[in-house]
Amino acid sequence: MTDPHFHGQAGVRIAGTGLGLPEGRLTNADLEKIMDTSDEWIVQRTGIRERRKADPDQDSQLSMATKALDAALSDAGMKGSDLDLVINGTCSADSTVPSGACRVAANVGATPAGAFDLVAACSSFVYALNVADTMVRSGRAKSVGVIGCEFLTRMMDYSDRRVSILFGDGAGAAVVTADEDTRRGCLWQMTEGDGRDWEKLYRPMDESQIPEWDRENPIQQGCIRMSGQDIYRFAVTKFGEVIASGLEATGLKSEDISQFICHQSNIRILQKAMERNEIPDEKLRINIDRYGNTSAASVPIILHELRSEGKLAAGDLAMFVAFGAGLTWAANVWRV
Ligand code: ACO
Repeated sequence: MTDPHFHGQAGVRIAGTGLGLPEGRLTNADLEKIMDTSDEWIVQRTGIRERRKADPDQDSQLSMATKALDAALSDAGMKGSDLDLVINGTCSADSTVPSGACRVAANVGATPAGAFDLVAACSSFVYALNVADTMVRSGRAKSVGVIGCEFLTRMMDYSDRRVSILFGDGAGAAVVTADEDTRRGCLWQMTEGDGRDWEKLYRPMDESQIPEWDRENPIQQGCIRMSGQDIYRFAVTKFGEVIASGLEATGLKSEDISQFICHQSNIRILQKAMERNEIPDEKLRINIDRYGNTSAASVPIILHELRSEGKLAAGDLAMFVAFGAGLTWAANVWRV
């Protein structure tokens, strides 16, 4: 039966972007005061110099996500009531019942838009962007608010120096909307995962959730645990493979892509991806020095920075890439 609401293949445009960053900062010098670490070790192994740290008395996942989406709507010249759907990419929502997305949608006046949280750890924003592109392109939605927002510092055990130095808080959002130019939006998407390796990066809520490799270690429940070297190897391999797949599937070369908009996990992982895929420095923005790893928020923060500096013009090609716990990974090639 023909669906009267199906309008066919629309083009898809990123109409606006915005940020929701907490004021607080946690520098490597601050960490030196509370654990046995050094600025030199952290910078050399990760590229991080400072991260944003939300204040639990003032900030929340909801407040950061709302700020980011409000800013993206005003950048797009749109109102919350223009949105058909809000996707809140996060693994650190304030609550699961109701979802963070429902409350963000209410805060920005996007009712009765559909709203859901999308939990794919560091891949969440790119997963959500792929869903948004598909919904708009198919005509199922006209405009979608896509958020990547994390309050991760409340999931850190600061006696665990291998993990807690990495993560920071913040939010970025994009408003994705239908466009008459059908060439705009995703030329190619990948939205994948492999749960067999879940235990390499996880957050235990009770004893039963602690995998074999971590049983002997002191563990604070509710805090993120990671087998760092396994994740490092996964990330380096997957990053290179995903970029190569996107280029092969579209018949493009690295030089055809204006910007690679990549999850900021570790500067060494990003540098290896650049070497393997022959990507010059100016095409892969790194800001991990200022924000640390903000999981779902890292890609929309980079996207906003590039757009604000005029580095993504209409018609440019961008490749979005992220990977994270699950394990998950996602990518797309997007004609801006
Ligand atoms: N300060 C000082 N020394 C430290 C610290 C620290 N913060 N952390 C670990 N060390 C010490 C260790 O104790 C160890 O000492 P030892 O040999 O005496 O035991 C030594 O440094 C080496 O430890 P490793 O854990 O082997 O350090 P590694 O070189 O693997 O670096 C790191 C750790 C940075 C976490 C690395 O494994 C990594 O980048 N992994 C990728 C993980 C990642 O990016 N995760 C992001 C989240 S997941 C995502 O976004 C998908």
